[in-house]
Amino acid sequence: MAETIGVGMLGAGFIGMIHSFALRSQELVRTPPSLLPRLISLADLDEPARRRCQERFGWQTAGADWRAPAEDAGTALFINAAPNHLHLEPTLAAARAGKHVVCEKPLAPDADTAFRLWSETARTGVVHQCAFIFRFIPALKLFREIVQSGQIGEVIHFRSSYLMSTALEPGQPMSWRFDRAVAGSGAIGDLGAHHIDQARCLVGEIAEVSALGKTQVPERDGHRVEVDDAFVAIAKFANGAIGTIEGSRIACGYGHTGRIQVDGTKGSIKFDVERLNELEIADGIAAGFRTIQAIRAGHPFADFWFDGGIQGSHPIGWTECFAHQAHHLLTAIAGQGSVAPVAATFEDGYRAAEVCEAMLRSWRSGRRESVTYRGLAG
Ligand SMILES: NC(=O)c1ccc[n+]([C@@H]2O[C@H](COP(=O)([O-])OP(=O)(O)OC[C@H]3O[C@@H](n4cnc5c(N)ncnc54)[C@H](O)[C@@H]3O)[C@@H](O)[C@H]2O)c1
Repeated sequence: MAETIGVGMLGAGFIGMIHSFALRSQELVRTPPSLLPRLISLADLDEPARRRCQERFGWQTAGADWRAPAEDAGTALFINAAPNHLHLEPTLAAARAGKHVVCEKPLAPDADTAFRLWSETARTGVVHQCAFIFRFIPALKLFREIVQSGQIGEVIHFRSSYLMSTALEPGQPMSWRFDRAVAGSGAIGDLGAHHIDQARCLVGEIAEVSALGKTQVPERDGHRVEVDDAFVAIAKFANGAIGTIEGSRIACGYGHTGRIQVDGTKGSIKFDVERLNELEIADGIAAGFRTIQAIRAGHPFADFWFDGGIQGSHPIGWTECFAHQAHHLLTAIAGQGSVAPVAATFEDGYRAAEVCEAMLRSWRSGRRESVTYRGLAG
C-alpha cells in the first residue's frame, strides 16, 4: 500500500477543478508517485461550485471557510486555486501550520506581496510550488532541454504571444479578473506571467522592460476597469538577449494561442500551444524548419501515460499537464527529488511578479524600466 497525503484546496472554480482532476489521476498513471493524495478538504464561497467539485472529484468535506483546508490537522498539502488577492493569507497560514503549499500564478497581485509570500514561506521550511503549468507541457520541457543542450547555440532572441478573446465582449460581466485590487493587473499577470516564466526558463533573467497596455473596455457592469486587456512589451535579458512578449484577452478569434519562439546562433525553435505536442526546429541557416513531436517514447511524459513502444507515441493534452505537475510535486514532498529546476518555486513566482510590475511601471511612466530582484537575507 502506497503512503498517502491529505490535501486541502481553496477554490473550486475553473482551475480548482483541473487541480482536482490532477490529484485524482495520480493513482491511475503508469507510475504513480510514492505519495498518493487523499482529497480531504475543499473551500469555496460559492456553494454550487464547491458542491459540483466535491461530487465530481470526491472531496471528503467542502465548506466556505479557507481555514479548514489550510489549517485542518488532516491535511499536509494545501493548494491555493483562488483569485490572486487571496494567495497570500491562506497560503501563509497553511505554510505556518506546516503544510506543503502550491499556489496558482501569478503568485500575488504585486511584487511586494509575492516577495512576502516567498520569503515567509521559505522560512517555514515546507515544500512550495508555483503553478506555472507551461513547464509541464511535454513540448516545452523538450524545448528547454534542447536549448540547455547547446544545440541551437547561444540564445539571442525570445518572442512570445499569448492570445485569447475572453474579454472582448463589452457586455461580459465584471469579474475579479478585471478588478485591479483583486487581480493586480489584467493580461500582464494573467497571461504574461506564464510567458515571462518561460522566458526565464529558456533564456535567463529579464533585466529591463518597456511596455504598453490597453484597456479596451473601460467599464463593466458600472465598474471602472483599471487593468490591461492587452499588452505588448520588449525585454532585455541579463545575458544580452532581446525579446518581445505580448498578451491579449481581446484578440478576436483566438481561443488559447500561446506562441513561444527562440532564436539561437546555430538554430531556432518554435512552439504553439494549439499544437501542444510539437516543436518546429531549424538546425542551421539554410536548413528550414522541420517538425519534431514530443510524444515519442522517451520524450518528456510519454512514459507517464502509455506503455512504451508504439503506445508511447500518442499526443498528450492540456489537462494531463496538471497531472505531470502534481506528480512532480508529490515526488518532491516524498523526498525523491526537488521542485526546482523543473517546476517553479515561489521564488520563480516572485521573480515573474517583479517583471510584471516593471511592465506596469513602464506603461505608466512611458520609459524603459529596470527589473530589480530581491534575495532572502542570510
Ligand atoms: N495555471 C493556469 O494555467 C491557470 C489558469 C486559470 C487560472 N489560473 C489562476 O488560478 C486562480 C483562480 O482562477 P480561476 O480561473 O479558477 O478563477 P475562478 O473565478 O474560476 O475560481 C475562483 C474560485 O474562488 C472562489 N472564491 C473567491 N473568493 C473566495 C473566498 N474568499 N473564499 C473561498 N472561495 C473564494 C470563487 O467562488 C471561485 O469559485 C487565479 O490565480 C488564476 O490566475 C491559473
